[in-house]
Amino acid sequence: MEDEKQLQLSYFELQAYVGTTKHMGGFETTKSLIELCHISQDTDVLEVGCGVGATACYLAKEYGCRVVGVDVSEAMVARSNERAQREGVADRVEFRVADAQDLPFEDANFDVVIAESVLTFIRDKQSVVGECVRMARPGSCVGLNEELWIETPPARVVERVRHTWDIKPEILTLEDWMGLLKSAGLSDIVVRPYKFDVRRESTQIQRYRFQDMWRMFYRTLFLYIKKPSFRKYMAERQYLPKDLFEYLGYAIFVGRR
Ligand SMILES: C[S@@+](CC[C@H](N)C(=O)[O-])C[C@H]1O[C@@H](n2cnc3c(N)ncnc32)[C@H](O)[C@@H]1O
Repeated sequence: MEDEKQLQLSYFELQAYVGTTKHMGGFETTKSLIELCHISQDTDVLEVGCGVGATACYLAKEYGCRVVGVDVSEAMVARSNERAQREGVADRVEFRVADAQDLPFEDANFDVVIAESVLTFIRDKQSVVGECVRMARPGSCVGLNEELWIETPPARVVERVRHTWDIKPEILTLEDWMGLLKSAGLSDIVVRPYKFDVRRESTQIQRYRFQDMWRMFYRTLFLYIKKPSFRKYMAERQYLPKDLFEYLGYAIFVGRR
């Protein structure tokens, strides 16, 4: 199977291989983020940490707007380009490999900048927020959907979350996020916090078509059957704590530059 030999056993590289990425709150939260950022046909959008390109392609297809998606992973960008071809939107979306902490565009290049579950995995969040603000034209929106602690978690929960996967999320509180956004110069910040909700999470799959689901299924099955190192990698991962969602939630933040 293509690129299986070079596959790195890390959470995001496996997601890229399988062809799926996600964020808390699913597709329903993506739609709320789009609405709060006032995206329309004439909006130039930058999506930071675009994963396999599901939101960028949806925006190009449903709104007809131009979208640039960046991700630090080459494999994610390759999957995004495949998706754009499949969805027939390759003329309106462009994907590039780039680090959110050092975006390769001129200042004030976009009408809206969005990121869904990306900053949580980057240590220097202030530099990423700064880059998102730098990319946005004056008066335009920067919108995030990021994980947060809705209740102060016990140390064992924080530790387990940090060490279960190699991506080591660093989760903030709502006040921490607000502090970051304000100190990057955003104003009129709208916040919509959410608790984990199974129904809302289940809308995650609405971003993918039947063919995508089938591809994800057989690629995962292929890894289980053919790659002992993948089975070992999965077996070594500890389960997340049962009470995690008493503490873990997420929020949409939209501010104006
Ligand atoms: C949890 S996934 C979310 C992907 C996508 N936004 C979605 O909602 O499906 C996080 C993504 O952020 C990307 N990422 C992590 N660190 C990054 C960085 N420094 N710069 C750009 N992208 C990054 C990962 O490669 C991954 O695709």
